[in-house]
Amino acid sequence: MQKVTTIPYSIQWNESHITILNQQELPLKTEFLELHTLEDVFDSIVTLKVRGAPAIGITAAFGVALAANALEDEFFPSFAAKVKEAITYLASSRPTAVNLFWALNRMESALSGSTTVNEAKTDLVHEALKIYLEDEETCRQIGEYGLSLFKPGSRVMTICNAGGIATARYGTALAPFHLSIEKNIHLKVFACETRPVLQGSRLTAWELMEAGVDVTLITDSMAAHTIRTKGVNAIIVGADRIAANGDTANKIGTFGLAVLAKHFGIPFYVAAPSSTFDLTLDSGDHIPIEERNAEEITHVGGIRVAPEDVAVFNPAFDVTPNELITAIITEKGIIYPDYKENIGKYIAH
Ligand code: MRU
Repeated sequence: MQKVTTIPYSIQWNESHITILNQQELPLKTEFLELHTLEDVFDSIVTLKVRGAPAIGITAAFGVALAANALEDEFFPSFAAKVKEAITYLASSRPTAVNLFWALNRMESALSGSTTVNEAKTDLVHEALKIYLEDEETCRQIGEYGLSLFKPGSRVMTICNAGGIATARYGTALAPFHLSIEKNIHLKVFACETRPVLQGSRLTAWELMEAGVDVTLITDSMAAHTIRTKGVNAIIVGADRIAANGDTANKIGTFGLAVLAKHFGIPFYVAAPSSTFDLTLDSGDHIPIEERNAEEITHVGGIRVAPEDVAVFNPAFDVTPNELITAIITEKGIIYPDYKENIGKYIAH
């Protein structure tokens, strides 16, 4: 019998509210939260209760639908102005993942295609549901293409969590591992813990264990030694924004893994949906990099582990230059260099 991934859906639309899996509580608690207001949605994104580029976009889209449904205006222009304010507000939640802006743009287009308040309310819910349902299909397709790059028994390293809980389902970088379980193909995963927020240990290790994938947790500083001594064959990561030349922003530490892949002569793959491409940027130099609060580094589990008043630099993402990327796995196919030339053949927006 075919095994199907058992990971809970991390986002669900319930008309009067959005239900999310609280990713801040994992792996100790599998807790679901109800988001009833626009402010709840904004807070859940800023505080990483929901995180991962596609999941942020989906939640924000549902947030716009939620905000629109709560409006009592009968006059379309004032209704539309308030929905646009909600879109602008959600766009200020996190700067790096372009999926947020992509999803909000789709919501804005749905709004501008409507002429009455009731029509707009229905259209906005439909558009958010479409974004959500398309993402599940997209991730499954990324998983199929990704799996085709690994031989049975491959040992693959990853960082952060680009998994089912960071998307509608399956994930991007983790999708091949979920599909490998369905297809009874053994792959071994090494998950970097991903300092400082620990998406690797708290989320990826949990998600892959739940799915029955063979996963081993390491700290980020063990990556080079692990690749050398454990025979890692490939590295696969997700993405938050990919520029027109293939430069890729992803969780801090990704760039370092790409440098290691080059040193060891192993492939370095980026897995991402077409909604993660930002073709308005000609290179990664222009990708805004979120800097988060110092406590993420100075404290562990609420306990101070650094001197009071120490200067802290806490970028949440880095940019991997395109020349270090072997291929970009998308739902439309696997894109190889020359990226400047080839990205446009697959991605159009
Ligand atoms: O800060 P986060 O946890 O939102 O960062 C997430 C990542 O960097 C992921 O790799 C990326 O968003 C892809 S998720 C499919």
